[in-house]
Amino acid sequence: MTSKILIEAVTEGDPTQLPTELGFGVHFTDRMFSQRYSVERGWFDPTIGPYRPLTLDPAAQVFHNGQMVFDGTKAYRRDDGRVNLFRVERNTARFNLSAQRMGMPTVPAEFHLQAIEQLISLEHRWVPRQANTALYIRPVMIATEKALAVRAPREFLHYIILSPVSPYFAGGFAAVAVYVSDDYVRAVRGGTGEAKTPGNYAGSIAATEIALAKGYQQVLWLDAVERRYVDEVGAMNIAFVYEGKHLRTPALSGAILHGVTRESLLVLARDLGYTTSEERVDFAEVLADIRGGRITEVFGMGTGAVIAPVARLGYLGQDIAINGGEPGPVARQLFDELTGIQYGRRPDPYGWTRTLSV
Ligand SMILES: Cc1ncc(COP(=O)(O)O)c(C=O)c1O
Repeated sequence: MTSKILIEAVTEGDPTQLPTELGFGVHFTDRMFSQRYSVERGWFDPTIGPYRPLTLDPAAQVFHNGQMVFDGTKAYRRDDGRVNLFRVERNTARFNLSAQRMGMPTVPAEFHLQAIEQLISLEHRWVPRQANTALYIRPVMIATEKALAVRAPREFLHYIILSPVSPYFAGGFAAVAVYVSDDYVRAVRGGTGEAKTPGNYAGSIAATEIALAKGYQQVLWLDAVERRYVDEVGAMNIAFVYEGKHLRTPALSGAILHGVTRESLLVLARDLGYTTSEERVDFAEVLADIRGGRITEVFGMGTGAVIAPVARLGYLGQDIAINGGEPGPVARQLFDELTGIQYGRRPDPYGWTRTLSV
C-alpha cells in the first residue's frame, strides 16, 4: 500500500455563502478523500479530489447485501482560529471494528488519520465559526464488487466527506421529547448493534416516524430479547442522573454502540466528583425512580448533539416529565466541560485533542 495521497485540482466554493443556520449534514465541502481495495492489491489509489457523485454498478454488493460501514467525528474551530480534532483515533478504531463485524477489510489506522488530517488541512476554511458548530467528518466503506451472491466481496471503496454542521437538534441544548418503543427494537446482542452500519439506522426509521407523529423527537430503544432493559436513545447513548450526584448508563451489552462521547463523559463526570456506574438498566425501575424523584435528569450522549437532555418520556400512552421538562445542571456542566475541551477553551488533561496547524 502506498501512503502518498494524490491531490487533484478542485474548483473551490465559498464557505461564507453558507446560511447561518447550517443544519446537520446538508452542506458539503469541495473535496473528498477516496481509495479503493481489491483482494489482490489491498488498498490503492488514495486520492483527495472534488466532492462528486459515485459511479457504481447496479449489482454492486452494497445495494444487495447492504455491506457498508461509516463513522462520525468532528473538527472544532478554536478561538485562536486553529482547528481541533477530538479523539479521532477512537472513531478510527470503531470504524475498523464495524468493518470486521461486517466482514469487510480494515483500513490502516495511521493512514486513515493522515487522510483525515490532510483533507481537513485542505478544507479548513469550511470549519465554521459560529458557537457550537463544527465540521462533521464522515468516513464510509462500501462493498463495490459486481456480484449478487451473499459472500464476502473482493472489492471495496473507502471515502471521507466533510459537512459544516450546527448541533444535531435545531434547538441546540434544548431538551428533547423521547418515545419509548415497546414494539420495534433496534439491535440484538450478537447482531450488528455495536457496528456503525446502515441497517441499524434503516431499521430505526419506522419507529422514529411513529415517535414524530406522536409529538416526540427521538426513540428510546429497549433490549430486543426481553423489552425490559434500556439500550440507547435514537443514535445516542443514554445516561440517568441520580439525585444530582450519580451517573448511570447501560453497560455495553453487544447491542449498544461504543460511543466516544459516552466514554469521555464518564471520565469527566468522575473528575468532576460524580460517581458513575455501567450496568443493566431496567426500564420499570427507571420509571419508578423518575416518579419517586430519585432520577433528576436523563440525557443522550453523542457526537452530533454532544448532550441532549430528555424533557419527557412517552410510554404506553403516558407522558412522564423529567426535571420539569427542562435541561438539568449536570447535563449543562458536562456539556460545558466536554465542549470546553473540544473547542480548546479548557485544559485537555487526557490529550484527547489534536490541534492542526492550518
Ligand atoms: C447508535 C448510536 N449510538 C450512540 C452514538 C454515539 O456515539 P459517539 O459518541 O461516538 O458519537 C451514535 C453516534 O455515533 C450512534 O449512532
